[in-house]
Amino acid sequence: MITIELEKQKIYSGTLLLVNSDYPLKNNNIKKLVPADEDFPDILIRHDAANVLQLIFKKISSKNLIIPVSGYRSLSEQTAIYNNSLKDNGEDFTRRYVALPNHSEHQTGLAVDLGLNKKDIDFIRPDFPYYGICEEFRKTAPDYGFIERYAKNKEAITKISHEPWHFRYVGYPHSKIIQTNGLSLEEYIEFIKNFRSGQELIYKNSYGAETQIYYLPANNDKTVICVPKSCICQVSGNNIDGFIVTVWRKEK
Ligand code: DAL
Ligand code: ZN
Repeated sequence: MITIELEKQKIYSGTLLLVNSDYPLKNNNIKKLVPADEDFPDILIRHDAANVLQLIFKKISSKNLIIPVSGYRSLSEQTAIYNNSLKDNGEDFTRRYVALPNHSEHQTGLAVDLGLNKKDIDFIRPDFPYYGICEEFRKTAPDYGFIERYAKNKEAITKISHEPWHFRYVGYPHSKIIQTNGLSLEEYIEFIKNFRSGQELIYKNSYGAETQIYYLPANNDKTVICVPKSCICQVSGNNIDGFIVTVWRKEK
């Protein structure tokens, strides 16, 4: 067994952070940012999310058809977008479509807004319809780690209006479990608390690889995790009160 010690602060890092109106971003130390697409060098996302995004684009041959419209935003950028939208679109629209500064997933580097490549792309609400290449992206994304974040039937939970264009990297197989069960990220973060070390959620992919997932509440000082030596282990904070541990095993 290997023992991993985690500082309390680590609950604010990882791919499964829940950043919303209740839980602000606490960690401004964003991992390496790279262009979401080499043709759009100004639109940055985290490197792990960018790699996966490119794999999806390749899989569905969407080069030049789908483009990134907005990626990582600093606090000052999110503040400017919020204030400009208040001025241009009013309070009701802004509350529905722009997260308050420090409450935006875009500040994590894990979110990307995508648009159908056409003339006059709307920066806040790009066109990303439920048919054609965009729908192909939407259906394929969870096989790689991305989810459509703000669904129509989850508005009461996410407190953000339906955003067909906003995708969030959470990592595989979390994305697949979220999609299959029709959950919002808020619901998934709660759901996963039902699974603890020794009573993990088991996810088997079609190649026979098995993943164990569980929640570990954070201690006030250090939290200790023990994982088998032969496994790959990923740990993410939930941005609230603990960790989500993902352990990959090969089937015997
Ligand atoms: N449009 C999303 C909610 C944001 O501003 O983060
Ligand atoms: Zn967005």
